[in-house]
Amino acid sequence: MIVLGIETSCDETAASIVENKRGVFNVRSNVISSQIKIHAKTGGVVPEVAAREHIKNILPVVDQALREGKAIPKDIDAIAVTTGPGLITSLIVGVETAKTLSHVWNKPIVSVNHIEAHLYANFADNKKVGFPVLALIVSGGHTELIFMEKHGHYKLIGKTRDDAAGEAFDKVAKIMKLGYPGGPIISKLANKGNSTAFNLPRPMLKDKSYDFSFSGLKTAVLYESQSKKHNFKSKTIIADMSASFEQATVDVLIQKTTKAAKEHNVKTVLLAGGVAANKKLRADLEKEIKKEIPKVNFLLPDLDYCTDNAAMIAVAGYFHAKKKNFTPIDKIKVDPNWELS
Ligand code: KG4
Ligand code: ZN
Repeated sequence: MIVLGIETSCDETAASIVENKRGVFNVRSNVISSQIKIHAKTGGVVPEVAAREHIKNILPVVDQALREGKAIPKDIDAIAVTTGPGLITSLIVGVETAKTLSHVWNKPIVSVNHIEAHLYANFADNKKVGFPVLALIVSGGHTELIFMEKHGHYKLIGKTRDDAAGEAFDKVAKIMKLGYPGGPIISKLANKGNSTAFNLPRPMLKDKSYDFSFSGLKTAVLYESQSKKHNFKSKTIIADMSASFEQATVDVLIQKTTKAAKEHNVKTVLLAGGVAANKKLRADLEKEIKKEIPKVNFLLPDLDYCTDNAAMIAVAGYFHAKKKNFTPIDKIKVDPNWELS
């Protein structure tokens, strides 16, 4: 089966051709047109600007995905498109494009949840995934722990009560005037810093729930930066704060995830979403799981599939298409707040 994936939920216009032959995935193309440079000027995504960029880029991106994936419309079995959650005007561009292509090419549409797709990024490189699964999804818009009994069955067991982890990285970078998106910048600076230089809070760690909160941590960084105690123009101070903030965030994520994995007796723990590209989180979570629950298999998505991309949409779409879980064109709905569960 060959699936064309389309993703426009935030600030990346993406299309991908993914083939599945006898259960084995082959990502034949994975094209992403990033708007990062445009949104860097405003320090974050302006929805109206993002939607206009998607409109400009979507057809050339789909065209490039077909060419690089050596596919013609006739070869495609299904079109998988993100219908939520995300920015409504951005989502509409991908969905209307998918509807038009579906009509012209006479191909069925699979409606894909963006969070589900992040999780399914872990299936793109054909690792063996034993169920039940616990997934930690950490992106710019979401921080969630999801328990998955089997394919397509999700139970949300914890989520952030305020900022998402990626959002906190972005806001902390803005406080220190480092640029956008903050995650990769802070992570790079953190390598040169001392993670115990600042004593930052580990929010919700003592709370019995699996919920998270990152807004207080961000405010703690703001207060430190406003106090006269430290010079936030100094490279050393910025590196130390980056390392301290990254460590505090990672500590909370790994402790809650490990506790949830133990209590739910899972076979596999998956990491997913843009923040899954963070090297410290990848390494520390793996170490903690190996130490605390060595029987559990820990899986990470390839770095190419952590931040927003359309290969993950096509992979998630494949599992729905296999079950003929298609949506007729006139029933497709964009749902900016679609929750997985
Ligand atoms: O999944 P994604 O591309 O978009 C959403 O669905 O939100 O995630 C983007 C988020 C941004 O907040 C970005 O700062 C963060 O992922 N991110 C990182 C790293 N790379 C991207 N955060 C921490 N460390 C990184 N290396
Ligand atoms: Zn995402």
